[in-house]
Amino acid sequence: MKVTFLIGDEKESVELNEGERLLKAAYKLGLDAAGFGDCGGNCICSTCHVYVEEGEELFDEPNAEEEMRLDIVADPQMNSRLACQLIADKDGEVVVRVPEKIA
Ligand code: FES
Repeated sequence: MKVTFLIGDEKESVELNEGERLLKAAYKLGLDAAGFGDCGGNCICSTCHVYVEEGEELFDEPNAEEEMRLDIVADPQMNSRLACQLIADKDGEVVVRVPEKIA
């Protein structure tokens, strides 16, 4: 799966292998240095919040735990997801926007 991150005015893409999570792609881009994905993917910090701009259909629906965490993010939108809960298990391309607070 190809994942393109929109970070401020920049655009960066990363390839993920099947079964890898989008959080790993964010780490590859060094977003963790800005505080992204602080809990390491344990679904407790909500800092891996992204807006899925394209390819939302390639992911399963959020589970109850993710929904609960999405309730506390700043500026939630209909396409809000947590990168640590998005698994690349289908072929295709997705585009995610990183919220300005992190970007
Ligand atoms: S990395 Fe902490 S909730 Fe996703």
